[in-house]
Amino acid sequence: MSLSSGTPKFRVAICGAGIGGLVLAVTIGKFAGRDVQIDLYEAHDAITATGAGIVFSRRTMEVIEALGLYEEISCVSAKPPSSSHGPQFRKSDIPTGGFKWFQRLVGQSDPVTMHRQLLVDILKRHLPSSCTVHFNKRLTKYDMLSAGSLVLHFADDSTETTDVLIGADGIRSSVRKTLFETLDRDIVDSSKITHYTDASWTGTVVYRAILPAEKLSEIDPNNVALREFVMFCGKDKHITAYPVSQGTLINVAAIVSDEQKAGTPFKGRWVSQVSREGVEEAYQNFEPAVKSLLKCCENMSRWALHTVNELPLASCDRVALIGDACHAMTPHMGAGAGQAMEDAFVLGRLLAHPLTTLDNVSAALKAYQDVRLPAAQLVARNSRLAGHMFHFNVPGYYDGTDHGNEQEELRILEEMIISHFEAQGKDGAMAEWQQAEKSLQGSVGLCNDC
Ligand SMILES: Cc1cc2nc3c(=O)[nH]c(=O)nc-3n(C[C@H](O)[C@H](O)[C@H](O)COP(=O)(O)OP(=O)(O)OC[C@H]3O[C@@H](n4cnc5c(N)ncnc54)[C@H](O)[C@@H]3O)c2cc1C
Ligand SMILES: *[C@@H]1O[C@H](CO)[C@@H](O)[C@H](O)[C@H]1NC(C)=O
Ligand SMILES: *[C@@H]1O[C@H](CO)[C@@H](O)[C@H](O)[C@H]1NC(C)=O
Repeated sequence: MSLSSGTPKFRVAICGAGIGGLVLAVTIGKFAGRDVQIDLYEAHDAITATGAGIVFSRRTMEVIEALGLYEEISCVSAKPPSSSHGPQFRKSDIPTGGFKWFQRLVGQSDPVTMHRQLLVDILKRHLPSSCTVHFNKRLTKYDMLSAGSLVLHFADDSTETTDVLIGADGIRSSVRKTLFETLDRDIVDSSKITHYTDASWTGTVVYRAILPAEKLSEIDPNNVALREFVMFCGKDKHITAYPVSQGTLINVAAIVSDEQKAGTPFKGRWVSQVSREGVEEAYQNFEPAVKSLLKCCENMSRWALHTVNELPLASCDRVALIGDACHAMTPHMGAGAGQAMEDAFVLGRLLAHPLTTLDNVSAALKAYQDVRLPAAQLVARNSRLAGHMFHFNVPGYYDGTDHGNEQEELRILEEMIISHFEAQGKDGAMAEWQQAEKSLQGSVGLCNDC
């Protein structure tokens, strides 16, 4: 690869400095040096992360390793003592006391968990010198000029130009909006536009909090969440709790679903502060460990879980979408940020590739789309199904009540969950990158077997 100090081969504008946008900038910088000029536009006045925990699967750790960030990330990730025996699943919707349903390792190792802000801080430190970050720049729309370059319009009435635009602007993406509104009507007819531009409510809300482990251990020293990654499962609800920041903090996500409401509009703000009492009320039929956990939660926020409907494409000409902008999904497999990182890695390497030039950059964006869009959409579907499993809502399986053979029904559901997660980790991000590179080489006849 050439790390020339000459003129960059093209300019890439990344819209959104979330985890996806940051990893994209870091990847391009690492593999293209100063060959690609990067402008990162962020709507807010700083690079921030909502303070909550984050989970990475083994396949996402491959990306972290390839970017040379493994050491730094390992230093700040939580290593609960249980890290070799998998998450503990409990049947918890029993007020007098739930029970351990199962605890098994999925794949070779446990997922890596960490505080989101720490990840963002590391990525920030690794932004390349070829990348300029522009704050308070909220993209409203873009136009394509006949010569192929793009004009970006911002909320402050300013404009900028670029050669390539990547929408990493999250679930309410402005890039996605313009892309689908200006797409050829033969590809998407006008009645379907809002189906793709607007996010859709899943009927689910998530209550999130981070609490000091010390506080919980004062009132309930044996609480399982102090030591384990634990899933407190019940009918239509579950709580995921796990230690972060070397076990000093505990991340809590309490999820309540109403499938009947899926697809209906959510009334109210997507994220709001809520009182702890309301959440305690929702879990009043849960076991004592859940009650003491919730008692320690302050500053709980409620997130109305929205997703992006399955898009028919993720790139068009010189524009592409990554991460939540492209496939925001439910958090049930802890996969959303990982999928954003995998998108960013594959796309970043394609853009950095010596075979990619300004004239044919759209071929690189298409190679990215062909590999990553189906893969991420599969993860999104699996994530939704996982939610149904945790909530005893898969038709034909254990439905949350004892019909006389509860243990056997729970065992069958356990097998389903395990094989579901096993299948998830199979093909890694590196394999996807190799496949994308082959398809890029194939498009110029450099590759015989593809
Ligand atoms: C409750 C909950 C729990 C989750 N838990 C996990 C988990 O454990 N593990 C996991 O992997 N994932 C998890 N996720 C998903 C994860 O948060 C997202 O998938 C991930 O943040 C997506 O990253 P992104 O960079 O694509 O988008 P975002 O993180 O949404 O970043 C988008 C960025 O773009 C900026 N922006 C937005 N609009 C504009 C604009 N018009 N112009 C300029 N900038 C703009 C925003 O300010 C933001 O900085 C969870 C999600 C939720 C809701
Ligand atoms: C809750 O929020 C208040 C004010 O915003 C802050 O002072 C306090 O430290 C927060 N508590 C926790 C546990 O985060
Ligand atoms: C892009 O164009 C360059 C220069 O014309 C060429 O060398 C390269 O093979 C092309 N790559 C692709 C993927 O078409």
